[in-house]
Amino acid sequence: MATEADVLKALAGVKDPELGRDIVSLHMVEGVKVEGGRVTFVLNLTTPACPLRTRLEESARSAVEGIPGVKQVEMKTGSVVFATRDYSDAEMLMGVKNIIAVASGKGGVGKSTIAVNLAVALAASGAKVGILDADVYGPNIPLMMGIRAPPEVRDERVIPPVAHGAKVASLGFFYNEETPVIWRGPLVAGAVRQLLTQVEWGELDYLVVDLPPGTGDSALTLAQTVPLGGVLIVTTPQDAALNIAAKALAMFRRLNVPILGVVENMSYFVCPHCGEKSYIFSKGGGRKIAAERDVDFLGEIPLGIAVREHSDAGTPIVAAMPDSRESLVYKELAFRVAGMVSIVAFSKMKK
Ligand SMILES: Nc1ncnc2c1ncn2[C@@H]1O[C@H](COP(=O)(O)OP(=O)(O)O)[C@@H](O)[C@H]1O
Ligand SMILES: [Mg+2]
Repeated sequence: MATEADVLKALAGVKDPELGRDIVSLHMVEGVKVEGGRVTFVLNLTTPACPLRTRLEESARSAVEGIPGVKQVEMKTGSVVFATRDYSDAEMLMGVKNIIAVASGKGGVGKSTIAVNLAVALAASGAKVGILDADVYGPNIPLMMGIRAPPEVRDERVIPPVAHGAKVASLGFFYNEETPVIWRGPLVAGAVRQLLTQVEWGELDYLVVDLPPGTGDSALTLAQTVPLGGVLIVTTPQDAALNIAAKALAMFRRLNVPILGVVENMSYFVCPHCGEKSYIFSKGGGRKIAAERDVDFLGEIPLGIAVREHSDAGTPIVAAMPDSRESLVYKELAFRVAGMVSIVAFSKMKK
């Protein structure tokens, strides 16, 4: 007859392939019960957007099925998201487990589009998600998320509206379009701090922050004010974009922000008639700078007319057409980013 100890022992033989440690010591197994030949337990993933979900589920199940005397295995999969910051006792952003910055060297590379689709994809996986628009030069996340009305303010705190499953706050909520575009350093720092302190986020697994392009005061203030779970660097394939993306990457590295990886946007165009991929702006640049800087390359996003159309209409493509080719690419990116954040959280835990 199998016992609970046998089950835990068998599951301790299953490793999380990304974290390289067994799922029992990672506290991913919960509620083991054995009744006769029937075993029930919960497998808690480190993120609902787990890129290795199926593989882990299969390994855990077959480990338990292999125990002599076990006839039936009832495994439920849940998640308890790992945190990269001390969220329960934080002065700012209390309750927010992970802050993910999205940065680029240049503007117009699709950073905001990636940020919104990342947020929507993470939310669709079951995570609690917020998106913070810290782009002082063009806060357009509310438009991309279809938010038209100003947010509710209660006791001087901004209640972020929810769109497509994610809570949204933007510098645009505080400053209207007539606000001068010449932002000086201290003003930017103040505005970013205001966003970090005055928005009522509640509990979040991930807060995605859309930064302005470049290496300016917003990025600096954010990285120096709250511990970031990591930064995703967005580039396009052209040399000019790549060079300045590399500069942004170097800046975050100097600030000790974990680099989650590089993603290349507008990598290729798929001919709607014959399906052939054309690498309009040359090929392989994003992968190359990632390799040279020893960071992960997280993928190529195709140019797609629907991506722009849905953004302009206020429904990111991942929400509007979740099964389209482009959405699948964004979702895979989101899962890889979530996986990277779990790895960062785990490395912090060990220290
Ligand atoms: N993969 C893509 N395919 C087609 N259009 C895109 C893609 N990514 C971004 N765009 C469009 O390019 C423009 C710039 O994107 P945006 O996300 O605003 O860039 P950034 O935030 O870097 O300035 C927008 O009109 C957006 O809809
Ligand atoms: Mg933008």
